[in-house]
Amino acid sequence: MIYETAPAKINLTLDTLYKREDGYHEVEMIMTTIDLNDRLTFECRDDGEIIIDVEHNFVPSDHRNLAYKAAKLMQDRYNIKKGVKISLEKSIPISAGLAGGSSDAAATFRGLNELWGINESLETLSQLASEIGSDISFCIYGKTALCQGRGEKITHLPKPPSAWVVIAKPDIGVSTPEIYGSLDLENKDEVQTQACLKAIENNNYASMCQSLGNSLEKVTMQLYPEVEKLKNTMSNTGVDAALMSGSGPTIYGFVQKERQAKQVYNALMGCCNDVYIARLLG
Ligand code: C5P
Repeated sequence: MIYETAPAKINLTLDTLYKREDGYHEVEMIMTTIDLNDRLTFECRDDGEIIIDVEHNFVPSDHRNLAYKAAKLMQDRYNIKKGVKISLEKSIPISAGLAGGSSDAAATFRGLNELWGINESLETLSQLASEIGSDISFCIYGKTALCQGRGEKITHLPKPPSAWVVIAKPDIGVSTPEIYGSLDLENKDEVQTQACLKAIENNNYASMCQSLGNSLEKVTMQLYPEVEKLKNTMSNTGVDAALMSGSGPTIYGFVQKERQAKQVYNALMGCCNDVYIARLLG
């Protein structure tokens, strides 16, 4: 039996540069992991079947699950005759912009790499992962990285300054294709990727807070006004910075002390069901 943890990610930055001929957007984003984890266990089966065992109303246990797709791709690519039972314990909210499904898929690539004795490098797994989703390549490594291309070109970065992160998700799920599809590249917000890179290199918390940015934030807020409302509520609690992660709708805020994180958490619990306190892992 193999165990893997699948951490959530947040975007410190997300910039959309242009639309490509393949329909994807060329992006530049800095992603980092937080200690909010799904847990997966992998048990080998001799009958070749892929079984996903998950107790969650909105998480499919069939071929639509990204962990299933990862297992199928590994079986096909490496001509594996064995199967697997994947038990998935969800803690990361779904359709949230926190890469929960992508992180589960990445954990599946890592877990089966070991369980089935494939022994590929993380680099190869990361390339393979991009065939089923743009964010999975980053999740293979976790930590902190600059992600380019459609998300699959990874440059590793140092740990960001340490911070407490309060995560709050409004009671809606957001579809990534819908958000990218509504993006107007002529009117997008500026994102300071270089300044954020510098802040990380200099381990400068205040500069990191100032340089957070996400060009999808405005798009999601226009379609779902409750996201803007939540960001305003978060900002009014006195966090040092607040931003939407990925295509949303989750908003996160940074503070430096645990006591402050608890205050922000308590303030948000009144208006939101999904609130979590985590730390940057990066
Ligand atoms: O790669 P993934 O399946 O996660 O992407 C979901 C959708 O998000 C894509 O079909 C596309 O509409 C959009 N997307 C994009 N540019 C990216 C990543 C995703 O337009 N770099």
